[in-house]
Amino acid sequence: MGTAILGTGSYLPERVVSNQDLEKIVDTSDEWIRTRTGISTRCIGGKGDETYLLAARAAVKALQMAELSATEIDLIIVATISSHMLMPSCACFVQKEIGADRAFAFDINAACSGFVYALDLADKYIQADPSKKILVIGAETLSSRTNWEDRNTCILFGDGAGAVVLGHVEGSRGVIGAKLFSDGKLWSLLHMHTAASCNSELLQAASPGVHIVMEGREVFKYAVKAMEEAVLALLEQEQIALDAIRLVIPHQANIRILNKLVERLGIGTEKVFINVQKYGNTSAASIPIALDEANRESRVQAGDIILFCSFGGGFTWGATLVRW
Ligand code: COA
Repeated sequence: MGTAILGTGSYLPERVVSNQDLEKIVDTSDEWIRTRTGISTRCIGGKGDETYLLAARAAVKALQMAELSATEIDLIIVATISSHMLMPSCACFVQKEIGADRAFAFDINAACSGFVYALDLADKYIQADPSKKILVIGAETLSSRTNWEDRNTCILFGDGAGAVVLGHVEGSRGVIGAKLFSDGKLWSLLHMHTAASCNSELLQAASPGVHIVMEGREVFKYAVKAMEEAVLALLEQEQIALDAIRLVIPHQANIRILNKLVERLGIGTEKVFINVQKYGNTSAASIPIALDEANRESRVQAGDIILFCSFGGGFTWGATLVRW
C-alpha cells in the first residue's frame, strides 16, 4: 500500500450536444437514447480541444490540488484510444504543454479500461521507487472516432479528460489492489480500425475508416458479467467485504449496464457514482472524470474504500480498490 491519489482534475469541452441535437443527424429520439443508455447530453470538442489539450487542462487542475508543480512529475501515463497523432504519444504532447520537463511519458491503450490499467502500472512504479510522482490521465476525443451516420454508436460517446497525481504516502492510504483481465478473442465485438495503411503491401482498396464498430448487445452481456467477476475476484484477493466499500466509481458506459451490475453485486445505488447522463461514454476518461467530480463534491472522505471497475474494447476489464 502507499500509492495515494494526491490530486484530481478533469476537463470537459464547452460544447454540449443534446439528444435532441442528435435527432437532427440520425434516426433516433431523446426517449430511445435515455431509456436505452441513460444519456441526455455529451460534450463534444472542437478546434483547440485536441486530446492532449483536454488532458493537459485536466492535469493542471490535478497538479494544483496536489500542490505540486509540473517539474516535480517523474512520469506521465496517458490512457487513450483517440490521440491526435499515432506518434508522438499524447503523453509527450501533455509533457510539452504543461512543462513537465523532468518526466518521461508514454501512452497506453486498454480502451475504456485504460485508466485502471494505467493506475496499476503507476502503482507498480511507485512501489519500486517511492520518490516518484506520477500523472495518470485518461483523455479522449471519441467524437473524432465516431461514425456520425451510425445511430447504434454515435449516441453513446463523448469527449473529455480526467487526471490524478500519484505519490507515496505513509500509512494505510492508497491503492489496495487491482485485478485486470483481457480477452483478445472477442476483439471484433468492439473495435476501431486504423486508417488505411500507406504500406503498398498492406493497402486495401476499401478503407474501413477510423470508426468505432460495435455489437451492442454482445458487448452489454460481456460487460456486466466481466465487471461483476472482476469485482468479486478483487474483493476475494484483498479479503475485503462488499459492505466495506463506501463508493463505486464505475466506467460510465451506459446506465443499464451499471444498474445490472449493481443489482447482481447487491450494492445500494446510493453507493454508485453516476454521471453518464451528462457526458456519455468518454472511454478511458470516464473514471477519472467521475472521480474528480466525486472528490470535489466531497463524496469521498479520508479512510473511505473506493472501488473502480471498467470494461472496454479488447476486451479489457478490471477493478481497483483504493483507500482514500
Ligand atoms: N435510436 C433509435 N433506434 C435505435 C438506435 C438509436 N440510436 N440504435 C439502434 N436502434 C434500433 C435498432 O436498429 C433496433 O431496431 P430493429 O429492432 O428494428 O432492428 C432496435 O433499436 C434495438 O436495437 P438493439 O441494438 O437490439 O438495442 P439494445 O436494446 O441492445 O440497445 C445499445 C442498444 C447499444 C444501447 C445496447 O446494446 C448497449 O448499451 N450495449 C453496450 C454498449 C456499450 O456500452 N459499449 C461500450 C462498452 S465500453
